[in-house]
Amino acid sequence: MNNQSREILQVIEPQQVTEGAGVKLIRSIATSTLDHVDPFLLFDHFGSENPDDYMKGFPMHPHRGIETVTYMINGFVNHKDSLGNTGSIGPGDIQWMTSGGGIMHEEMPQKADGAMAGFQLWVNLPAKLKMSAPRYQNITADQIPVVQRDNGVTIKIIAGEVDGVHGPVKEIAAAPTYLDVSIPADGIFSHNIQKDHAAFVYVFEGEGRFGFTDDDQGIPVSSPRLIVFGDGDIINIRTKQNGVRFLLISGKPIKEPIARYGPFVMNTQDEIQQALEDLRNNTFIQD
Ligand code: CO
Repeated sequence: MNNQSREILQVIEPQQVTEGAGVKLIRSIATSTLDHVDPFLLFDHFGSENPDDYMKGFPMHPHRGIETVTYMINGFVNHKDSLGNTGSIGPGDIQWMTSGGGIMHEEMPQKADGAMAGFQLWVNLPAKLKMSAPRYQNITADQIPVVQRDNGVTIKIIAGEVDGVHGPVKEIAAAPTYLDVSIPADGIFSHNIQKDHAAFVYVFEGEGRFGFTDDDQGIPVSSPRLIVFGDGDIINIRTKQNGVRFLLISGKPIKEPIARYGPFVMNTQDEIQQALEDLRNNTFIQD
């Protein structure tokens, strides 16, 4: 049986945007170039050596119909929400938040030693779960399994499976894989992804050759770039003189209409209007 290598569909250069109360970040999904990669609706990379770029944070705001996933590389983000949760997400921690029908939360980056760095991903919910009860999976760095291969490749498994090791994020509608992969110089890494699942890679350190096959060298890509892959069975990546670090993210497409307005992503404009009305009438949070 032949494994079909996934080809590169698009290499996206992130765009500078200002979000929240004035946080400067770079965005690769939810732009005029790339609206979404079903089931993924947004991908942001925040990070700066300058606290002025992030200290204003994301004060209390609502979400409905999606999941927001925050993964920290360096620095701390304090959070609290309408369920009464409070805490801090630190280096290597992940927060997988399912907004369901409604949550209010704030995410406030704290002044970091060195550069603040992290990612936020939005994952869509199918219609039948858009109004479900909100739910949190807060996972600390020490709960995330690390696979260390003989060839020096290191894989942190946040969701999905590598070499029989499963990530701690569970029971997500999109059946996601979320890996943080480091390949040293002159290294190689391949990963099987279920056919029909959407897949992308976000390169945030170094450079590698992506999507190579037996008769194709693949495309060299340096950080920061997002790579969208076509369908197939396997993603192949190799390095030459430099190492590379990237996130590999995949999930099952939902294939439903998308109506989005700021922090709400529903199936129809009527449902967006309903979310705005619920917010005005103080009936947004259901308990
Ligand atoms: Co939010």
